[in-house]
Amino acid sequence: MMKFSLRYKLTLIHILLISVMMLCGSLFTILSMQRYYQKRLNHFMENQLSQVQSLLINTPLESVTNPAHYQALSAYAAAGGFRLTLVDSSGLVRFDSELPADSLDRMENHGSRPEIIQAKREGIGQDQRLSASLKQPFLYGALRLKHDYLPQSEGEIARYARIAYPLGEIQNQFRDLRLTIFLASIVALALISLLSYWLAGKLSYPIQKLAAVAEKVKRGDLEASFQHSSHDEIGQLADLLNQMLGKLREDLVQVRKLEQVRSQFLGNVSHELRTPIFTLQGYLETLMHSTFDDPEQEKEFISRAYQQSVRLNNLLTDLIDISRIESGEMKMIFRPFDVNGLLGKICDELQVKAKDYAVAVTVTSPGEKKMAIGDPERLTQVINNLAENAIKYNVADGRVELGCRDVPEGVEVYVADTGRGIPAEHHARIFERFYRVDKERSRAVGGTGLGLAIVKHIIEAHGSRVQLQSEVNKGSRFSFVLKKG
Ligand SMILES: Nc1ncnc2c1ncn2[C@@H]1O[C@H](COP(=O)(O)OP(=O)(O)O)[C@@H](O)[C@H]1O
Ligand SMILES: [Mg+2]
Repeated sequence: MMKFSLRYKLTLIHILLISVMMLCGSLFTILSMQRYYQKRLNHFMENQLSQVQSLLINTPLESVTNPAHYQALSAYAAAGGFRLTLVDSSGLVRFDSELPADSLDRMENHGSRPEIIQAKREGIGQDQRLSASLKQPFLYGALRLKHDYLPQSEGEIARYARIAYPLGEIQNQFRDLRLTIFLASIVALALISLLSYWLAGKLSYPIQKLAAVAEKVKRGDLEASFQHSSHDEIGQLADLLNQMLGKLREDLVQVRKLEQVRSQFLGNVSHELRTPIFTLQGYLETLMHSTFDDPEQEKEFISRAYQQSVRLNNLLTDLIDISRIESGEMKMIFRPFDVNGLLGKICDELQVKAKDYAVAVTVTSPGEKKMAIGDPERLTQVINNLAENAIKYNVADGRVELGCRDVPEGVEVYVADTGRGIPAEHHARIFERFYRVDKERSRAVGGTGLGLAIVKHIIEAHGSRVQLQSEVNKGSRFSFVLKKG
């Protein structure tokens, strides 16, 4: 029902407008034709009357009504298709083209007929009515006859000539005309209704199609698309809706990707947590159920259990950091600071670890003041992560260098090592969460796989990017650029 209402409305409006137009048109036609015929009839009547006038002028009544004249005059009226009556000044009928002379005295007095009364007053008179005898519509015209050169004494004269013209024929014709127009209108209206129904269908079809697609989209089919063949408003609407759908699809792809990344991350987290927890559980069970002859051996087990708990703690710390960064909870506070000062402090704190791995950690230009803008606490975390990697994935007697230098865009901070290097195929993915080049090594040195992900986040929050240059068996260089302070 709803689907077709537009079509029905359009059709109805069409039919209504056209009906009004046709009604006005046929009314106007009929009226103007009637007026035209009326005028022609009046004209005809006046013509005939003036001819009768010229026929009878200055003719005494007796010569008009002698049998030969009587017949000739009757024939004249019959030929004109009307009835001619002559009336004297007292209203008596003295001639009638359709009655013989001897029955005239049975006619009633015509002096009070409207056309005669008008002719008496104005010279010419006219009326339209049903005839008293035939009950048929007639047009009556009367003329007061002039007899300028006929003295009264010469005898009686015809005072009024009257013509009666039957209207039945014309009225029948008009009835036929009205019927014809009416029938033609009905046929035309029927055709127009069909045509406008078809046209309205054609017009509303694209809208129906749009509605059908919209219904599909509503039910969740985002692959649907709005088809159109025209470049009118409906075409524009379809284009617009398609653009909206496209955006929606893109957004949805993004959302699904995020969802996938999330669930993947959750899976990774559970997996990463399970390993140290199981290992820890194993050591603790051994410690509970075994009796150790060698106290050194027992101490070794305790130490391993402790290492697992440290690993667990690192993992949780990194996880909390990542989630705080991603949720936007970790706010950066940017301020100018001395980069070399910061590097020096970090370098000092790393010396113990460096000694464990037999690696030398140095600052390139210690004490040289180099101001940059950033959040020193978060950057400490970044440099610590990079430097710890540089130490842990180094070789014995390797070196790690922390430094900074002026570049056109600002101050570049770098952590370079002489370690094992990272094969090029890993460069793109190394900043992903839990991505490791060498899983065994990472686990052995207590890595979480989250360090570089945290680094990337923090550096991006500083409006910069981490650059990596690395060559296998030669070393790696991680760097980023800060704004000058
Ligand atoms: N300086 C480096 N030299 C060689 N490999 C590195 C270096 N820094 C990082 N890596 C590789 O990148 C991986 C990811 O680093 P990171 O995110 O810090 O995790 P992890 O906790 O394992 O250190 C490491 O497991 C290691 O394989
Ligand atoms: Mg690390």
